[in-house]
Amino acid sequence: MEKSEPKDKIAAWNHRFEQAEPEKIISFFLDYFKDKIAFSTSLGLEDQVLTHIISKINPEARFFTLDTGRLFPETYDLIDRTAKKYNITIEVYFPEAHDVEQMVKEKGINLFYDSIENRKFCCEVRKLRPLARAMEGLDAWITGLRREQSVTRKELKKVEWDENNHRIKINPLADWTLDEVEDYIAKNRVPVNPLHKKGFASIGCQPCTRAIEPGEDIRAGRWWWENPETKECGLHKR
Ligand code: ADX
Ligand code: SF4
Repeated sequence: MEKSEPKDKIAAWNHRFEQAEPEKIISFFLDYFKDKIAFSTSLGLEDQVLTHIISKINPEARFFTLDTGRLFPETYDLIDRTAKKYNITIEVYFPEAHDVEQMVKEKGINLFYDSIENRKFCCEVRKLRPLARAMEGLDAWITGLRREQSVTRKELKKVEWDENNHRIKINPLADWTLDEVEDYIAKNRVPVNPLHKKGFASIGCQPCTRAIEPGEDIRAGRWWWENPETKECGLHKR
């Protein structure tokens, strides 16, 4: 396949799939891209729904996660429990040891609190570079993004050309509400991170995630010291 799918093909897919159930979208794209598509999971609520769906369609599909080295212990447990329950392999990508050592030597272990520039650099070293390695040889990736999640995600399409990564990005849950995600999890007994019950709505790295108060925005606990407009780690820069 060409590196860039024509814009009209993406538009046609969006037309076809905007109202479609995630099962239908995923079946189509797993078959279309074969071994050139993978699901990128952070083990969040949406990702657990997608893991449930994808593993039922094809347990041999590629699942990967980016282990920044700063995740919650509960997230590591969930990686293990999920892989065992669904009988799948979740490939774990680490940052390059040398990059992390250099960064920490120059800027400190908790550099992210010092400036937005430092925070973005840490995300680049610990997430973006490993993501680039995880995506070598792929034409497309699947994510658990939803429109409702933030101001930066309102315009999200189910199928997009991802300018940052030069690949097709598939967002099968783009139009789902949080209630729909939670209903699906309850009905299907999908394993989730126990931190959600303690007020952690959206979970990323431990030092950059806090629990939220009732009524707060679901992403308020991510990089809580920054403005909503800057709060993307670069995986999904828009
Ligand atoms: S982030 O950009 O703020 O970190 P968020 O946590 O909302 O992203 O997750 C959005 C989607 O990005 C997830 O559904 C998942 O597909 C992908 N993603 C985020 N973090 C990771 C990670 N550590 N490993 C793999 N995929 C991830
Ligand atoms: Fe670093 Fe925080 Fe980004 Fe994780 S979320 S990679 S700890 S800045």
